[in-house]
Amino acid sequence: MVLCTFLTLLQFLFEFIMSGKNERTFIMIKPDGVQRGLVGKIVQRFEEKGFKLVAMKMVWAEEDLLKKHYADLSSKPFFPGLVKYMSSGPVVPMVWEGLNAVKTGRFMLGETNPKDSAPGTIRGDYCIEVGRNIIHGSDSVESATKEINLWFPDKKKDVVDWASWAEKWIYE
Ligand code: RTP
Ligand code: MG
Repeated sequence: MVLCTFLTLLQFLFEFIMSGKNERTFIMIKPDGVQRGLVGKIVQRFEEKGFKLVAMKMVWAEEDLLKKHYADLSSKPFFPGLVKYMSSGPVVPMVWEGLNAVKTGRFMLGETNPKDSAPGTIRGDYCIEVGRNIIHGSDSVESATKEINLWFPDKKKDVVDWASWAEKWIYE
């Protein structure tokens, strides 16, 4: 009980520290986005918005990792197909940093189903079907923290803390 309260407090403190300009979100280009040559265009959107790239790699993910990543959807009928799709080729996981990075990142992605995504969003502009929606984005600060730890486990080496000269031109 005491440990539980302590852990909740620790998590609150961590989320408080990581909010503001340092908020981080986990974005991943899915196998269809990679195969269709959209990596550059997607990275460009986040860069041009003003977010700071602090981690990126290419990986052909094991099913185990993907099952952990989408664990909250494991009871859904589309789960086996989702894992198969996500393991069908390399993906490009990334961490982007900035004010409201999680919420804004989701806006930039569009709706889960591309047919409901507005033009100007990534899914609205580049894809058609829900099962081939080219990109993943964290849905909360808490999931972002979990996902970053899952895909970039070595905090010191995998995620880079760096200062951008552009920051003073992006924030007041
Ligand atoms: P993501 O986690 O990939 O960013 O997508 P999301 O939050 O917008 O949607 P979520 O409910 O988390 O679903 C994860 C991914 O599962 C696939 N999906 N297929 N066939 C279906 O009805 C269906 N529903 C979801 C999509 O690839 C979705 O992005
Ligand atoms: Mg999701």
